Parts: sequence; structure tokens; C-alpha cells
Amino acid sequence: CTVLIDGKAACSCLIAVGQLNSTQLDGAATEVTTVEGLGSYSANFEKLSAAFLQHGAAQCGICTPGMLVSATALLDCNSAPDETQVLDALGGVLCRCTGYRKIISAVLDASANSTAARVDDARKINGNDAARQEIAFGVVGQRVPRIDGLRKINGTEIYGADEVPDGALTLRVIRSPHNHARFRFGNFDAFIASHPGIHAVFTAKDVPGTNCYGVIPNCADQPVFAESEARFRGEAVAAIVGEADAIAAFELASFPVEWEELPALTTIEAALDEDAPLVHAHRPGNVLVRGRVVRGDVEAALRDADVVVSNEVETGFVEHACIEPEAGFARRVGDRIEVQSCTQAPYMARKDIAAILGVPESSVRILPTAVGGGFGTKLDLSVQPFLAVAAWHLRRPVRMIYSRPESIMATTKRHPARIRARAGAKRDGTLVAMDFQADFNTGAYASWGPTVAFRVPIHASGPYKVPNYRALTRAIHTHLVPAGAFRGFGVPQGTVAQEQLYDELAEKLGMDPLEFRILNALDDESPTVTGQVFGSGVGIRECFEALRSKWIAARASAEAANSSGKGSLRRGVGVAGMWYGCGNTSLPNPSTMRVGLKRDGRIALHQGAVDIGQGSATVVTQICAEAIGAPLEKFDLLPADTDVTPDCGKTSASRQTFVSGTAASLAGTELRKAIVRIANACECAQIEFGDGAITIEERGERRTISLRDSPLDA
Ligand code: FES
Repeated sequence: CTVLIDGKAACSCLIAVGQLNSTQLDGAATEVTTVEGLGSYSANFEKLSAAFLQHGAAQCGICTPGMLVSATALLDCNSAPDETQVLDALGGVLCRCTGYRKIISAVLDASANSTAARVDDARKINGNDAARQEIAFGVVGQRVPRIDGLRKINGTEIYGADEVPDGALTLRVIRSPHNHARFRFGNFDAFIASHPGIHAVFTAKDVPGTNCYGVIPNCADQPVFAESEARFRGEAVAAIVGEADAIAAFELASFPVEWEELPALTTIEAALDEDAPLVHAHRPGNVLVRGRVVRGDVEAALRDADVVVSNEVETGFVEHACIEPEAGFARRVGDRIEVQSCTQAPYMARKDIAAILGVPESSVRILPTAVGGGFGTKLDLSVQPFLAVAAWHLRRPVRMIYSRPESIMATTKRHPARIRARAGAKRDGTLVAMDFQADFNTGAYASWGPTVAFRVPIHASGPYKVPNYRALTRAIHTHLVPAGAFRGFGVPQGTVAQEQLYDELAEKLGMDPLEFRILNALDDESPTVTGQVFGSGVGIRECFEALRSKWIAARASAEAANSSGKGSLRRGVGVAGMWYGCGNTSLPNPSTMRVGLKRDGRIALHQGAVDIGQGSATVVTQICAEAIGAPLEKFDLLPADTDVTPDCGKTSASRQTFVSGTAASLAGTELRKAIVRIANACECAQIEFGDGAITIEERGERRTISLRDSPLDA
């Protein structure tokens, strides 16, 4: 977003190219430098990009060009900035992933205050592959530069909007302006005839297969285009496709559609009213699903408790605010469709696009681009169904990029929640019971509502021992934008209520809130509310205990500040714990990896796990490298492509490192076994991966096997 205009950082979206020459009084040409040109513009770029790699400052990478341009402008005029100056320089560039600390550290590290050794080392990382080999190769536990880091830094990464196929048309979606409305279309032929450059209009009638999709089997309910009734403001009813200029000039008011606004349910209370109309006729009471976990006798335990507290909590919608809006293109190739877009779930997209087009899954190819932030919202389809339907009919590539208002209006949000909870404890602070009820506003369509309703009861106790427990949840339909996946699938909302409840219990008991949590924290041997005993690895008590000294100091400091009694400001100190299961909820959780040795001695890893900035491409490769005993730089990574890479499941719920990483470990182990078998060596043998050959060393014996002429088995 930021470019240099004659060396000064400027927001490119706020300055039209036509304005540039007017800034030059002497008539000289204005020089505009983008991230792609920074390398030849300023020596600081090399230092900065190396430091960004070194610090892991580029995660999804969508903000990285803006950050690098701004930082280069800063270092060019101030070679040794302090942190405040770095913050000021980067202040206009938003980053949704990093929390900024790594970026700030990278800029400070690239400044004149940095040691020469660090910069020299970083230069090796930023150089070519040969230079990269000088860095210690990656195995689990080592800090290595991201495998995709360089592309994000030098501006060559491809995001959803970055490619425009030759001859591509542009698509714009026509959306409901009402929360709930019936609609009727006018004359499309007349509309097209009066709009040169607009080639076609598509509606529900043009969906060749099933006008329905959704992420949860048996709950799919969202149409590509509403058929006669729009159930939320922003729902798609039609799409127009044409030349980019014509679409840009199109006036929405000229589209032939008549709306009849209907009463809308916009709150959980309204939707649960017994007289409320049904958002979907087949879902009585507007209840999509119910979740339930019950253990012990909650009522008796609360009756016998020494202290009982209760609360009511409401949370609102939260927008994911990925810096990259949804974007992509589709093209028909014979009787197949290819959809290239930003997505967290390529195989789920393939299944739904196949059903929408009425073709076998093998006729759909999903090519995920880099993802400029997902956080759950790019698990659902967005641009893909419209593009696929249009490209299928037109036999021309079709592309679209959501505008920011469109992205906010039409894509999923965090579920608003209405929670009522009670908890009881004994006088010594031991938790005895929790009673938890939550309704989640899941909006007009199911999306991930079932996952939220099923996951929250499993987690609403928090990471604590609660012997008597009842958690009941509902996902409730309203005439609002569908709520979906967003970091935690409802668990953060439950935590807001539960942790405050435990604070109140501690207060009533006169206990320190941290000590209350330490006393009740889960351990390896205590069962969770679903009866699961983890057996190992439960570290929450140690986490709390590690906080103790800082907690005591922070409380004392706040108390001292407050006792001075000056002004109306007071300081508070809080503590909270949370847990969160990684992987799918109430669904199977498979992941498949394929790894092979090539004739040139390099290792091909077909890994379909989409890296949305969390680093899975690097981590999964590290895990595979460790299993094989091979250096990281020997890997050729094939990123997700449903025609080539096996299904790694979706990138959600923190599952890729754990689940796909395990698949990579198993695949790597199998490859290692196959390699040592070729040499008739034992599994403890060392393998060296050379140029077109491998050398296997066992008990001092070395044997080199040429791969150039080896038979292929895949
Ligand atoms: Fe900054 Fe993703 S790395 S927005």
C-alpha cells in the first residue's frame, strides 16, 4: 500500500498517478518506487529484508511491502532511529498478524545500531539458494527463515488479486440491501442491451448443479444466489459480468430488481420468540443445532456449595479484518473448472464447487494463492461460487476482488453470544460445579454454527477441574450475516463468561484470583468435563505458577498507584486462563502428505496444507526433514493444488502443525525406510543427499547410489 514518491513514503491508494507531475515545480519526472524496485533504490532494503526474514516479521506477508517501503524511507533519512521513531514511521501500515513487535525489532535490527555480524548473517538468508545453504538446516526446534519468506519480502508472492488471466472478465455481485426481503427481477436483455461492456447476468437459475453449499455435512444451506427471498443484508441475488471498465462504471440503481422488505429477526431474543417467523422452514424455533455436555449432579453440587456466583454476558459480532480482501479468478478448461483464490480450505472448496456446477470433484481444480490473513473467515466460500458459475457458462476467465465494504457485509463473523452461567466452590476454593447456557447468533446460514455449538460445551469449564458440570448451547438463526469460524470457534466467548465467574468466586472467597486458578487447574491425571484424561502435557498450572512473581509485583504496583488517589484514573490487573482443542470438532480429522526422492537427489514434498501466515509450510517441512534426516534446503515444496497435492484438510483450529505435521513425519519416516532398504542398510544409517545420488553410511561403511538411472516408482 505504501510507495516511495521521490523518496518519501506515501499511501499509493490516496494519490492518483495524474497528481504526481503536479508535485514537481521544476518539471522533472516524478520517481515512484514500489517494493519490487527497492533493492536497486536503497542499500537499506537489503538490510531490512534480511532482518525481516531473520525476525519472522513477514507472516501472511500482505502488509510486508508497505512495511518495508516505510521502513526503507525511515532508514534512508535516519540511519539510527529509536523505537518511537520506528513506530511513527510504520504507523500508517496495518498488520493483522504479527502484533508489530517482530516488525519493529527487524527495523531496529537493520538500523545503524545493529551489529555488523547480524546483518552479514542475515544477508546470507536474503541471498540466493547457495547462500541459504550456509544457514544451519532446519529440524524441529531450530529457528529457520520461513520457506516462503523471501517471496513475501521481495514482492513476488501471489495473492488472490495478483493474477489476471488473458481475456479475463470482471464480476460484480448484486446483493440484498435489506436484512430480509423478497425480490423480483426485471428484464435482463434490456439491461444488457443498455449497458455496453456488460456481457451477462447470472442468477440462481444459472447454477448448473445444486444451488446450495456449506461447510458442515447435513447442515449445508447457503445458496450461491438467493432464489426469491434474501435472508441477510449483503446476500447475493445475482452477478453481472463484463469488461473491467464497464463493471467499474456500473450504477447499482440501474440493475433491474424490485425489493419488498420483510420483517427481520436481528437478535437472539427476537428469533427465539415463540411467534417469530422461521428463517428456514425446516428448523423449528430458529434453532440450527444444540450442544450439550453434562457431568455429575450440578443442582445438588450448587446447593451444597459454600459460595455460588452467577453472571450474564453478551458479546458482539467481530469482523476478521484480514488485510487481503477475498479475491480470485476462475477459468473453464474443457469440461473442467479451475478456481484460483485465497482460501483456507481447498478440498472443501473443491467439493462444494463440484456440487454447485453439477460435475464430479475430479473436474474441479482449486489453486490456492497465498492468503493475506484468514483467521477463519476464508474457510467458507466467498468469491469462488460466483466465479465458477460465470466462467463455466462464459468459457472465459472471470475474476473479482471484494471491496472492503463487501467483504465486511457478506463474509462470516465471530458469533455474538448471550451467556448465562453459575459456578460454585467450597470454602477452601475448590470448584464444585458449573452451570453454563449459551446462545450463539449464527445468522442466516449454518456456516460453522454447529462447530461453535458443539465445541463450546466441551471447553466452557476452562482448563480447570469441574466435577459437576452442565453446558447447553444453541446456534440460533437470525436475518443477519452468517457467523462462522473465528479463532477458537466460540470458545473465547465462553471464556469471557467463565473467567469472570471464577474471578467473582475468588473475590467472594477472599482468595487471590491467580491462586484460585492454580488450585483448580487441570493436571495430567484429572479428567476434563468430558471425562478425558490427557495423561501428559497439561501445563496450565505451571503457566499460572510461572506468573506468580510478576502477578504479585503487578498487583502491588497497581495498589500503590491507586492508593495515591490522584485524579479519577485507577489501575487494574487481571489474569485469565484458556484452553482450546486443536483440530476438527465432532468430525474426522485426516491429513495426507506425500514425499519422494527425485533423480536429482532432491526431495519433493507435496503438502496441501495452506499456509495462511502461521508458518505451516516451513514447520511441516521441518518435521518431514527431521523424520528423513535430510537438510531443509534439499526440499522442493509443492504447495497446495488439488490436482497434485493430497488432501491435508483445512487450515483451521491450529491443526496443521499437529495433524499435517504428524502426517509429514509419518511420510518422512516411510521414505527414510525405503531409502535405507535400497542400500540394504539398517534404519540407523546416515543418509547424505548429493547431486543426483545418495550416500548411505553404516558403521563406517559408505555406499553411494546414483539416482539418475534409478527406476521411478511414482
Ligand atoms: Fe502483517 Fe499478515 S503479516 S498482515
